[in-house]
This record gives sequence, C-alpha cells and structure tokens, in this order.
Amino acid sequence: MDQIVNVNEFQELAKRALPKMYYDFYRGGAEDQHTLKENVAAFTRIMFRPRVLVDVSKIDMSTRILGYPISAPIMIAPTSNHKLAHPEGETATAKAAAACNTIMIVSCMSSCTLEEVASSCNAVRFFQIYVFERRDVTAQVVKRAERAGYKAIVLTVDVPKLGRREADIKNKMIPPKLSNFEGLSSTQVKPSDGSGVEAFASRALDASLNWKDIEWLRSITKLPILIKGILTREDALKAVEAGVDGIVVSNHGGRQLDYSPATITVLEEVVHVVKGRIPVLLDGGVRRGTDVFKALALGAKAVLIGRPVVYGLAAKGEDGVRKVIEMLKNEFELTMALSGCPTIGDITRNHVRTPDERL
Ligand code: FNR
Repeated sequence: MDQIVNVNEFQELAKRALPKMYYDFYRGGAEDQHTLKENVAAFTRIMFRPRVLVDVSKIDMSTRILGYPISAPIMIAPTSNHKLAHPEGETATAKAAAACNTIMIVSCMSSCTLEEVASSCNAVRFFQIYVFERRDVTAQVVKRAERAGYKAIVLTVDVPKLGRREADIKNKMIPPKLSNFEGLSSTQVKPSDGSGVEAFASRALDASLNWKDIEWLRSITKLPILIKGILTREDALKAVEAGVDGIVVSNHGGRQLDYSPATITVLEEVVHVVKGRIPVLLDGGVRRGTDVFKALALGAKAVLIGRPVVYGLAAKGEDGVRKVIEMLKNEFELTMALSGCPTIGDITRNHVRTPDERL
C-alpha cells in the first residue's frame, strides 16, 4: 500500500485484480466514452489563482451536508454491485466511509442488502433509488431505508433508459442478484440478451418518471430528497421549485448520454440559479484533491467519488477504499494550504480561473 501514491494507481491494481468483464463494467462509459474522458479532462483546464502570505499553519477541511458533519467535502458516490469487486461488498465500503468520517451514498443496486450495510458500521448513509415501473417495489425499499436509519434519499434521474455501454454488450455482462429487490431479480436475464444490465434496466425502470413524481416520492418519505443527474440551469430551477433538499450535478460518470458536458463545466450555471437555497454536490472525474478544490471554488458543497472507490475496493478491500479517501483528503488539504485557504469558507470563485476567463 505504501507504494501507492495517488488515486489513479488503484485503477491498474483493480484491472489486475478483477475478471475482465467486471473491470470493464466498472470502468466503462457510454458509446464513444467522450463524456467519460471529458469529466477528467475538463478539470485539467481549470487553473488556480493561489493567494500567499495567509496563515495556513492549521487547515480545517470539515464541513456539513444536510447538517451532518463530515471530515472533508469528499463523499462516496452510489455505485452498484460491490461484491463484484470484493467479497465483503458494500459493508467494506461503508466501514471505510465510517473510518474516514464521511457519508456513503448506498446504491439500491447494492450486492449487500441495505440492512446489512446499515448494521456493518455507524457511517452516515444516504440511500440512492431508481424508480421502477412497479412503484410499490420502490416505495418498499424507501420505507426499509428509513427504518434502517438512512438519512436521505438520493433519486437518480438520468436513467430513464440505460446508456449503451458497449463493453458490457460485448462481454454479455450479467448483473448479479440484486439483494434489495426480491422478485425483480436480474438473474432472470439470459446471456442471449446481450448486456444483461441493459435488458434488466429496460424491463424494470420506469421511463415515464417526470417532475410530478417528486410529489409522489415526497408523499412516501419524510427523509430529505436529493436529485442526482442535473446538468442544466433549467432543471436545477425545476428541482428547487419541486422542493427538493439538494442537487447532485452528475452525468452518471459518463455512462448514460455520451456527449453530455463534463460536470465541472456546468456546475457554475447550476449554482448560479440555485442561489444557495439548497446544497449542490458534484460527481464525475474527481481524481485529485485539486479537483475537489476546483469544484468547491465553483460552488459545490462537496464532491462524490465513484470509480476510484470501487477500484480501491477491488484492489485492497476496506483498506483500499480508506486509502483512496485519505489520499484525496491529503491532497485537498495541501491544495487548501498552497492556495491560501485555511477553511472551506475561505475557498472562493476568485481562487480558480476557468478556460473562458481572460487573464
Ligand atoms: C455508477 N453510478 C451509479 N449511480 C447511481 O445513482 N446508482 C447506481 O447504482 C450507480 N452505479 C454505478 C456503477 C458503476 C460501476 C459506476 C462507475 C457508476 C454513477 C455514480 O454514482 C457516479 O455518478 C459516477 O461514478 C461519478 O463519476 P466517477 O467518479 O466514477 O468519475
């Protein structure tokens, strides 16, 4: 582990640890994978405007999300099927989240049940959902998440249909059993279906989901609701009007609509219309502490980490996930110091320069 010096190195380790089908499933994006690459590339085009002669002898990275304190604005994104990466699955990821004092968003497509994840550790957990045609199935899982002590519901809205992930089609990827849903089991999908993930999704997900359904979700849960998958100011405004409690600017890690913009390039337009009324989070391509800083400077309250967490899990289990989060925290702490920002509140728009800004 001491040999690993940055998050990207876990990708190679994961590639070696995993069967090709599973590695491809985790790594892949939709079609030409342009958005997948752009998520990372767009961060590299943002430069710093560091300030000097500021007392940075003490750095405080801590912040709060929906009132819950976390040690740094780096959370764990919902990703499915952690047992493909490691036998302990999501329980290992959750223990790492607890050790790092951060929030894990548990995917409803988890391979451990949501209750198993809940009882494995005392991490603050949010629960991510998709809405199925069988609304009763979604409603049941929301109730179970409430009972198991999850603190918020994260509704993912960018999957009315599954994006074309060509590696999964080639590999005839069959998703494993979905532990949270009896009767919706993906094991009914046959290899002849091409990508089993897609076959399952097109059968189960409700493509008619629309803004009116936020009221339905509100009617079945008292928990705060975040919407994940917003990329425009128009939809950000609709989300605020719908009364949700937070937004995640996300393109699903480039796995849905290819040629969606890199998330960091649209963060500001979302933040601009939200006007601080609800927290705006961001995910997609965050691989460095400098990326975390850039997202905060452009208005995010925190970032979510997707693939690096899964790669850490595949390579080294719970310790790997912990190392991923710790490395990002250490890099972020250093970035704050070198930019002259001792606290999160000190990070401002003036600390970065985007490509469209002249010197
Ligand atoms: C995801 N993502 C995802 N999102 C979601 O809302 N529910 C889910 O079940 C999943 N599953 C999932 C599986 C895998 C293998 C990946 C890579 C991604 C999307 C995820 O939450 C997040 O938006 C992206 O992963 C963020 O981009 P990075 O950090 O992977 O670049």
